[in-house]
Amino acid sequence: MDTDSTIPLPKTVQACRKALLGWYDAFARDLPWRVLPAARAKGQSADPYAVWLSEIMLQQTSVTAVKGYYAAFLGRWPEVEHLAAAPLEEVLSAWAGLGYYARARNLHACAQIVVDQHGGAFPQTEAELRTLPGIGEYTAAAIAAIVHDVPANVVDGNVDRVMARLHRVETPLPRAKTDLKSLAAHYVLPHRAADWPQALMDLGAIICRPKTPKCDLCPLERFCLATKTVNPADYPRRSPKAVRPERYGAAFVLCRDESVLLRRRPTKGLLGGMSEVPNSVWQAKKATNEVMMLSAPVEAVWQNMGVIRHVFTHFSLQLDVYKAVASRGYQTNEGWWAPRHALDEEALPSLMRKVLAQAGMLPK
Ligand code: ADE
Ligand code: SF4
Repeated sequence: MDTDSTIPLPKTVQACRKALLGWYDAFARDLPWRVLPAARAKGQSADPYAVWLSEIMLQQTSVTAVKGYYAAFLGRWPEVEHLAAAPLEEVLSAWAGLGYYARARNLHACAQIVVDQHGGAFPQTEAELRTLPGIGEYTAAAIAAIVHDVPANVVDGNVDRVMARLHRVETPLPRAKTDLKSLAAHYVLPHRAADWPQALMDLGAIICRPKTPKCDLCPLERFCLATKTVNPADYPRRSPKAVRPERYGAAFVLCRDESVLLRRRPTKGLLGGMSEVPNSVWQAKKATNEVMMLSAPVEAVWQNMGVIRHVFTHFSLQLDVYKAVASRGYQTNEGWWAPRHALDEEALPSLMRKVLAQAGMLPK
């Protein structure tokens, strides 16, 4: 391993765990899906449905962004049976804005399997959990540990960062992931199995933050190798970023009587199953206005409303936004007319909200 540290000694592991769990007892975040250490010590355990839902939402998304969605989901579908019985469109609409929509489709599919094949109870072992849609290595470990209180190596970005700093790992991400994971495994023990990963994640979120770690407040400072360097934030090391390619297209906002023409994207692929306004294919080269017009859903007086930009994981997108009023007799068998004032109930991804805002159909 590219590190000036060795594998931690059992004695060091024990001391580290004691320090971090003590910190967690005092400073654990009171998250809506969490059982705090004091309650857990009294025998309270976490709700599998709540933990599963929160962990799926928290993949790629911050706690702040998730809280409102989490409350809305639990309010609307208080138990896994309710979620399983909901139409997919409603789940996608409630998820709209959180991004990475495959998560919502898998969430719905997973709820149905849990209800239909497991009698409404989430399986307990990591191996069984991993057979469910949307539950990968991380989420299976998180549910096993947090809900069932069994030791599991729960490794997310926070844990990667804490391990890279604690052990001053010189291998860059993403290559370092296997090393970081095996380092983290040394700290996983049966005692307080549910609290341990949550303590590590809270430390990563509050103290050992990506840009400005608060080493002077850190319970692990005396064990940490990175804090002795000029800038602990230089860890984890990273390989130079691959450049994100740019793509271009046009989006067409067709209006009629305070309604907008929407259609549904194919279930598979990017933004699968979400709603959108008609739009062109997204290409590597920007097309001329004339060529873009060939993608318009109807011949109309299309007004150019400007350009919006959106960043996806693998590319950035620029869409020219066009707007027109549909002529009286216009009929379409593709899509539906969504009333402007009910757009919040549509499964509109952030990209499409930007398009509609650019066209003056949603507040900016
Ligand atoms: N981020 C993702 N899951 C978390 C959890 N259970 N506790 C704290 N932060 C998290
Ligand atoms: Fe992170 Fe600083 Fe704590 Fe080390 S001492 S784990 S760098 S916050």
